[in-house]
Amino acid sequence: MTITICIGSGCHVKGSRQIIAVLESLLKQYHLDAQIELEACFCQERCNEGVVIKINDSLVTGVSKENITDIFHHQILEELSHEHHYNQ
Ligand code: FES
Repeated sequence: MTITICIGSGCHVKGSRQIIAVLESLLKQYHLDAQIELEACFCQERCNEGVVIKINDSLVTGVSKENITDIFHHQILEELSHEHHYNQ
């Protein structure tokens, strides 16, 4: 699975760096470094809804360092469990 974080200037100002930092520590904490890849991308043209991230190919907007932990638990781990299910 790949999580892409927009680091275009709009999202950067809204805190994409902190979001990456939170995600990195969550991945370590859950030992998911090998399964989830973090990538950065440039502007997704949704700046006014930033910060924008992608979980595989689905766009999630309005991400902040306050809600990223929730998104991790409810959307990222959920999606990951589906992937594993399909891979079995
Ligand atoms: S800078 Fe992130 S959507 Fe434009």
